[in-house]
Amino acid sequence: MPANICRFAEYELDRSAYQLRRKGRPVQLERIPLDLLFILADSHGQLVTREEILERVWGKGVFLDTDNAINTAVRKIRHALDDDSDSPRFVVTVPTKGYRFVAEVHETNHQPFHRGQKTVHSTKTSIVGRERELAELHRGLDDAASGRGRLLLISGEPGIGKTRLADEIAGVAEAKRVALLVGHCSEEEAVPFLPFVEILERLVESIREPAELRRKLGEEGSELARLLPKLRRILPELPPPLNLAPAQSRRHFFNSFCDFAARIASEQPTLMILEDLHWADDSTLSLLGHLTQRLSDMPLMVIGTYRDADMNVTRGLAKTLEDSLRGRLATRVKLKGLPPDEVAAMLEGLSGKSPPASVASEIHAETDGNPFFVEELFHHLEEENRLYDSSGQFHSELKIGELEAPPSVRLVVARRLARLSSLTQKMLATAAVIGRFFSFEILQASSEGDADSILERVEEAEKAGLVFPVAENPKVRFAFSHELIRQAVIAGLSAARRQRLHLEVADAIERTFSDSLQDYWGELAFHYNRSGNARKAVVYLGYAAAQAAQLAAHTQAAAYIDTALERLRDWPAGVDRAKQEIALHLTSGRSLQATIGQGAPEAERAYTRAYDLCREVEDAPQLFRVMSGLWGVYQVQARFQAASELGVKLLALAKRMQHPLFLLGAHEALGTTLLWLGEFTSAREHLEQGSAFYDPQKRRPESFRAMQDPGVDCLSFTALTLWHLGYPDQALKKIGEAVALARKLAHPYTLAYAAVHAGVIQQLCRQVQAARDSVERAIEICSKHGFPFFLGIGTIIRGWALAHQGQEAEGTAQILHGLDIYRTTGSGINWPQLLLPLAEAYELSGNAVEGLRAVEAALAAVEKTGERRDEAEVYRLKGVLALRSKASQYRIQSQSEAEEQFRKAIEVARRQSSKSWELRATTSLARLLAKQHERDEARVMLAEIYDCFSEGFDTLDLKEAKTLLDELGG
Ligand SMILES: Nc1ncnc2c1ncn2[C@@H]1O[C@H](COP(=O)(O)OP(=O)(O)O)[C@@H](O)[C@H]1O
Ligand SMILES: [Mg+2]
Repeated sequence: MPANICRFAEYELDRSAYQLRRKGRPVQLERIPLDLLFILADSHGQLVTREEILERVWGKGVFLDTDNAINTAVRKIRHALDDDSDSPRFVVTVPTKGYRFVAEVHETNHQPFHRGQKTVHSTKTSIVGRERELAELHRGLDDAASGRGRLLLISGEPGIGKTRLADEIAGVAEAKRVALLVGHCSEEEAVPFLPFVEILERLVESIREPAELRRKLGEEGSELARLLPKLRRILPELPPPLNLAPAQSRRHFFNSFCDFAARIASEQPTLMILEDLHWADDSTLSLLGHLTQRLSDMPLMVIGTYRDADMNVTRGLAKTLEDSLRGRLATRVKLKGLPPDEVAAMLEGLSGKSPPASVASEIHAETDGNPFFVEELFHHLEEENRLYDSSGQFHSELKIGELEAPPSVRLVVARRLARLSSLTQKMLATAAVIGRFFSFEILQASSEGDADSILERVEEAEKAGLVFPVAENPKVRFAFSHELIRQAVIAGLSAARRQRLHLEVADAIERTFSDSLQDYWGELAFHYNRSGNARKAVVYLGYAAAQAAQLAAHTQAAAYIDTALERLRDWPAGVDRAKQEIALHLTSGRSLQATIGQGAPEAERAYTRAYDLCREVEDAPQLFRVMSGLWGVYQVQARFQAASELGVKLLALAKRMQHPLFLLGAHEALGTTLLWLGEFTSAREHLEQGSAFYDPQKRRPESFRAMQDPGVDCLSFTALTLWHLGYPDQALKKIGEAVALARKLAHPYTLAYAAVHAGVIQQLCRQVQAARDSVERAIEICSKHGFPFFLGIGTIIRGWALAHQGQEAEGTAQILHGLDIYRTTGSGINWPQLLLPLAEAYELSGNAVEGLRAVEAALAAVEKTGERRDEAEVYRLKGVLALRSKASQYRIQSQSEAEEQFRKAIEVARRQSSKSWELRATTSLARLLAKQHERDEARVMLAEIYDCFSEGFDTLDLKEAKTLLDELGG
């Protein structure tokens, strides 16, 4: 196990602070070179190969300019260590192979002194009043410690003391050995799940040993890495995140986060503080809502603070919090101003002297007992020498009205700021633009001047109580002591200056984190958006949108996209702009499909707009992605004509590009649509060609529409076409290959997909138990991950199997339930296929009326959408049910009606070359004709179709046909 501190020459590497120090002082080194330095030092004396570096620093399968990336990192290390590649003291190049760290290394586990984790405040005078509120929080904490957690909300105006109260209880918690997690929301930084990201980041930074970190993150590690990409750099062996259907990935992520919270709380009772929830984005609030639901049996107390005055503007917040309060999952503590005697106590704490009642009441009157205002006013008066007389005692008479202008918090703060040196004011302006929390690193990179002079300015601000250092977090080093102070600084800047500062900060972030920019896309989008650099704003907003969509933070993604589209108007018209806009609509389309549904009209609009724009640019891959997205929408909307036209275009385009991934995608799309249209022969051709372009090693980029693996997709649908075309044995074999491939890929959505399709094929082959076994497996996966589409289909097939195994009532109930689940997806396809089992189950239980109703619904779906895959079987079942219905209100009850339906079924099946449906319909017809003493015709027609089969003689359809043929004397 690597030691915590590793010393060489005048340097030391500290694993817990994740820092390089020279003679005790931190040395600037970016994260990737630092990662690499740790690796090299850990294997000192030994060769570390370039392959090993690549794998451990960036992880497997990452595309980048490898050589360049490694060389750059090594160059940065040498620079930081003042090392020379010609006569190296530390890092020696082993040509073509890699590097060796040659200095003598001493390892120790001695912990450097660390300040305890600060929550939010610098040290202040002791708290005044708030006894009742504190008692409430104490109770909450005790409840949580005994396993009954809950959400406590502290509300009130800015400066009223929400943070202070939370801080106070945090202190109590620490004394009771309750672990503390703190996260902040920000007015400006629109990063999805921001406070949770901060919590995770701090947690990760507090754990020294990778092994311990791995243990702590547990099974959830790979989902948590979505929040904090750098986890993958620290723990390169983390499995990749599950590639779930977009709609499910959010749920899975939420569950993982809550499981993680439950686990760490079960190890040690925990207090989680979420600050400034009035700024929380939707994703944060949803996750909080989710967590709140589960708190009651967790040793976890959550405290949320927010300004109730800002409630109405954030409706999402109002709803989440209201729901929690109403469901008694949360309790609210509303803070008001302090009474005069407590203001007096505050003043005594601040001054160390007891103020006369008149002074306390004057200050109370001016501030309404708002503690922040009390403090600021006190400092202001003190700095102006207005408080004390020559003997150092309070003036007994204090008239604040003597101030030239009416006092307000902002004004008082502004006056205090004005007393700082101009260099410090400048520094604060940059810091305020960076945010409530700012790292020294970025502050320095965005300012002129050397580290020492900037540090001096920070110290001046710190002495004035305007900022304070936040310990133990290498990224966040300082914070404004109150958001109102930061706002006062911002308010004092002209718009032009603010714009320039945003540009400088953005530029500093870009330079400082050049090798891990994806961790900063949200911040860069924010700063560039306010900087006047529309070009970069759009680019980073687009990245941030895609990243948010990946985290299933779709509201956030949509907000980024809207802003980006707006900023795009500032670009000069032309190809560049069109390309950007297309990319944005593509991201938007995918995100909308995930939130609203695969066939969402909103997604269709986004893709259509992109499609229009594609005329202005020549970018084949982009055009392919746009058409592919649109195709997916049409297919799920059951607009097969439009889908097949697009499929043809996709194929033509792919052929021009001659790229296997695109060819695969095009054949897959076109084959799928043709299959649904009942054009089995050509569907098969395309699907088989698709399979030929498939290479399991080459993963399809996420930007392609489907969630399932394309290889499994092509195999499954080829199996379906084979069954239709009269090759049941080959169909079973093919679907077996699909299942095997899915197992190998071990990808949940694909596994569920293959298992359901195995069930479908087995259902068609009438292998009742096998079909049931397949869908049971699928249902298990779908329930775990929440795939309603396949959960619905699986449940229907299970019901069908039960009905065939003598449990008609239970079977029917399951089918109806499955249909309900499927309906929730809003999908327009598959209805004929899914209504048929219902009709069959009713038929089995002798309920012809309901059976016919189901058949009519299936028929209506066929007519409406042109989904003809199962059309023949719909007619056949209609005939079967017609024979059954004796006293029904439906007209069709006579034998001739049945005969007509069977003949229709045969005609459709013939037109589609669906030998299997033809055989089934012919058997039904032959049976009827035999009863009507037309045995010859029956025998001839049955023999004719039976002879078309060269395999599948073990399947029930063929066996029944054979028995009938024998009876007919064939
Ligand atoms: N009850 C109190 N006793 C002493 N000081 C307080 C009290 N409440 C708040 N303060 C001080 O007032 C300032 C503003 O409080 P803070 O908790 O940051 O307000 P909020 O979070 O509501 O905006 C802080 O400096 C804090 O230490
Ligand atoms: Mg606060």
